[in-house]
Amino acid sequence: MSNPLIVKAESQVDRLLSQLSLEQKVGQMTQITITSLLETDQQGKALRPFRIKRPEYLSRYQIGSVLNTPQDDITVREWRDLVSSLQELSSQGKTKIPILYGIDSIHGANYVYGATLFPQPIAQAASWNRELVHKIAQISASETRAAGIPWNFSPSLDIARNPLWPRHWETFGEDVQLASEMGKATVKGYQGESLHGPQQAAACLKHFVGYGAPLSGKDRTPAWIPERQLREIFLPPFQAAIEAGTASIMVNSGQINGIPVHSDPYLLTEVLRGEMGFKGVVLSDWKDIQYLHEYHRVAKNQEDAVKMAIEAGIDMSMVPDDLSFYEKLLSLVRSGQISEARIDESVKRILNMKFQLGLFKQTMFEESHYLSFGSEERAEVSRQAVRESITLLKNEGDILPLPKNARILLTGMAAHAQHILNGGWTHSWQNDNLSVATPRKKTILTAVSEMIGDDLVSYSLGTNFDTNLSTHEAVSLAGEADYVVVCLGEKPYTEFYGNIDNLSLPEAQLRLVEALAETGKPIIAVMVQGRPRLFSRIEPLLDGIIYAYLPGDEGAEVIAETLFGFCNPGGKLPFSYPKHPHNLLPYDHVFADTQSPFGHVYEGPLYPFGFGLSYTSFAYSNLKLSTAKLRQGQELKIRVQVKNTGERAGTEVVQLYLHDKIASIAPALRKLKDFQKIYLEAGEEKTVHFSLTEKDLSFVGRDYKWITETGAFEVMLGDLSEQFEFCG
Ligand code: BGC
Repeated sequence: MSNPLIVKAESQVDRLLSQLSLEQKVGQMTQITITSLLETDQQGKALRPFRIKRPEYLSRYQIGSVLNTPQDDITVREWRDLVSSLQELSSQGKTKIPILYGIDSIHGANYVYGATLFPQPIAQAASWNRELVHKIAQISASETRAAGIPWNFSPSLDIARNPLWPRHWETFGEDVQLASEMGKATVKGYQGESLHGPQQAAACLKHFVGYGAPLSGKDRTPAWIPERQLREIFLPPFQAAIEAGTASIMVNSGQINGIPVHSDPYLLTEVLRGEMGFKGVVLSDWKDIQYLHEYHRVAKNQEDAVKMAIEAGIDMSMVPDDLSFYEKLLSLVRSGQISEARIDESVKRILNMKFQLGLFKQTMFEESHYLSFGSEERAEVSRQAVRESITLLKNEGDILPLPKNARILLTGMAAHAQHILNGGWTHSWQNDNLSVATPRKKTILTAVSEMIGDDLVSYSLGTNFDTNLSTHEAVSLAGEADYVVVCLGEKPYTEFYGNIDNLSLPEAQLRLVEALAETGKPIIAVMVQGRPRLFSRIEPLLDGIIYAYLPGDEGAEVIAETLFGFCNPGGKLPFSYPKHPHNLLPYDHVFADTQSPFGHVYEGPLYPFGFGLSYTSFAYSNLKLSTAKLRQGQELKIRVQVKNTGERAGTEVVQLYLHDKIASIAPALRKLKDFQKIYLEAGEEKTVHFSLTEKDLSFVGRDYKWITETGAFEVMLGDLSEQFEFCG
């Protein structure tokens, strides 16, 4: 039976569409950045109070959408005034179609001053906690909508297959299953049951598809992805999030196998619409239609570029500066090179999204819906997310937690820098405006000092990202301390600003640790970074390693809690941590990746995918499968007992891996199939249940179709494994 609400929206959309002129339709397909609409200073920053310099874009050209932030510290009130004035102008147009404002709220409403800022997505994935990630998305949507913005360019479902890539931390990691689960939880959290409400925002999956695997590791550079991998690794998280109801998808700016995705009808129409059943809006990324000519060099000129992109299946162009796309598209339709029917398809999807969001009824909800904006209660959700994501990589001789009466030297670039905890997409795109920060948030230094008292804490910066500044001073202060806590990492970046040629942590930071180690004092590293920078050279010098990812505004407090044992870290790596610069294999590699035919065994990563210690210990026992011979249509029931064998409560992520022993396509040594996060008091034991069906045993075969083959499989849970046979 068809849903009466959808049918009603469809007929309203059809009616409205029939009243639109071609110009108005093409306007709806145009998205412009806010700074192009406002009066700006010489650096392109909008002048305050905001003044619209191109009202005709809204009232006459009826552009469909506006994006981005005009400044770094815009309050809810300013946002609401700004968005209202845009809506007011577009309602002066003939057709009164509301504007769809879109923004990147990737770890909370990071462009709305005072909003709750959460750990970045890579850290959220390290929590392996679907409910928590769902809650984060709900709050992010609410605080974005509070500002009058109903569209969020998130989540990023790129599978991070190249650790050099500067957008590694915007993803949920390297694994298909984990990213799919986190993606679904995020989309459902943003969108709720229906988009039509004060707490909801439309999701936009990014960046369809294959963006996370550039060969060079640099942003927007080409990827080479065999069809089989595309289908087995890169498409499934998008499929899962489409089934969860995402309203929109943004396209990958790069090329796959030589074809820029923005020009590819195979991926954007045949696969995305035809096979995957996506019915929502497909948005280009920033200037990417223009780049088909200027950067990728597949289009002869700008008109050709627009034609290619529209024929490929794009509905809306993030132009974003001017009316060039509008003009070119109009002339292509007028000259008969693109049919008006093709334009109608896209405009229908855009109008439908506006209807689903309820924008025709109400573009702004009362402020009274948002009384919890940036509240302490929400900061506590963010702190919980940090507690669940922080990953303990090393704890030699149980050096951690540290005694509360110990003298601590804090050093390193991340020790006293709040913006480093957040990374990019925070207040500004690059988070490079140090005069803007959420009020009253701590640095690791201030949090530790508050926790154990100023008199026990000394501090020296040591280095910045890549330059020695006061290593000598740090070493001399280490002499008077009982423990050294060295906070290493990266400064904020995103996209091409974060491109690197060398994954290693810079020499200055490595040398700081080496110099500190000479004092003989125990050293704990706190690592605050967006991608796994190599540090194998100094790893043996470290007694403890707390991996914090980019934990956000509440990170410092929880790092202090973790150092002194007020919280027991529960995170597990959502990626493999490489040991050597030229061994960057993901965890789901095949046997032939691990050794030569002559028996030479290659070294694995420094820390494997899914790894993370705790201040307690867990033991797995009694792994039982419901049958040793699984038949088609049956369910394999699996159970295992997990016991907290240590002396304090803790959480464990029970990870279910499967290994297909022999298959017609060389099988991965292990593939994550499911996971559950459990909490156990000291001494407590729980039985954890999973089930697998034939679908979970399938893979993309030689003809690029999903198949299941009969034969032996191995189920792995903790250090246990059991075999069964699939008999068909
Ligand atoms: C990024 C997208 C982002 C868009 C709008 C682009 O440069 O690649 O991820 O959503 O800008 O801010």
